[in-house]
Amino acid sequence: MYRIVFLGPPGAGKGTQAARLARALSIPHLSTGDLLRSAIAEKTPLGLRAERFVTAGELVPDALVLEILKERLGRSDTARGFVLDGYPRNPEQAEKLAALAPIDRVVAFDLPLEVVTERLGGRRVCPVCQAVYNLHTQPPRIEGKCDRDGASLETRPDDRPESVATRFRLYREKTEPLIRFYRDRNLLVTIDANGPPETVYARLTAALGLASDMAPGRDASVYSGGGARRSGPA
Ligand code: AP5
Repeated sequence: MYRIVFLGPPGAGKGTQAARLARALSIPHLSTGDLLRSAIAEKTPLGLRAERFVTAGELVPDALVLEILKERLGRSDTARGFVLDGYPRNPEQAEKLAALAPIDRVVAFDLPLEVVTERLGGRRVCPVCQAVYNLHTQPPRIEGKCDRDGASLETRPDDRPESVATRFRLYREKTEPLIRFYRDRNLLVTIDANGPPETVYARLTAALGLASDMAPGRDASVYSGGGARRSGPA
């Protein structure tokens, strides 16, 4: 059973590594950010309530996120575990999670602010299949187009500078204290998340005590979000 939580600042590479690890372990990647973006795109009642918070880079109210997480955790594919990326983000959410599901390991992603700022500035996403690229480090084969379906790549609305500043501030104020919360419970491992994705993945598997060759069998540099996919090719 692998019930793993990823903690780290915006743009730390949590989604990139969570997708790869989840494939390698054949467990789902649960991203509250992706679940919220899917709900927003589908204009569900929850998505309509969450949209302004996500766009501004603010935390969505706890009750809304808990609702979406509970529904996802309740699905049968989580029976062997999950990689949870984006939850909890404050002490209240950590307490809720403890009541919902026991956690085996929490991985804290550590890297300098200037690196995450550059990563977020270069991120582009496919609006159809949710594949994630980076102009600096993982560019698409054809400029501005998704490798998988040719759709025009977009900037995430909350990757604009004013929203990024809010996300960093909230991370420092609300989420970073959880590192101590989980360290006190002997659940925390910290990895150096600076470096190419392959290097970070090797550090991640080592920190979790897994075989370093747990490759998922496809290019790990482009991943699709861990929420409900809207449409598009696999
Ligand atoms: P969420 O989607 O969780 O955003 P985040 O935590 O800010 O994380 P990101 O998705 O920005 O970054 P990441 O660490 O996954 O990095 P990635 O792998 O993409 O949440 C979005 C919003 O939803 C929140 O602001 C909030 O409004 C709401 N929300 C979500 N959960 C919530 C909760 N629990 N409570 C309340 N509100 C909630 O990588 C970033 C870029 O870098 C990519 O371009 C990637 O290609 C590139 N990259 C990745 N790894 C490397 C590497 N090793 N080297 C070079 N480039 C790399």
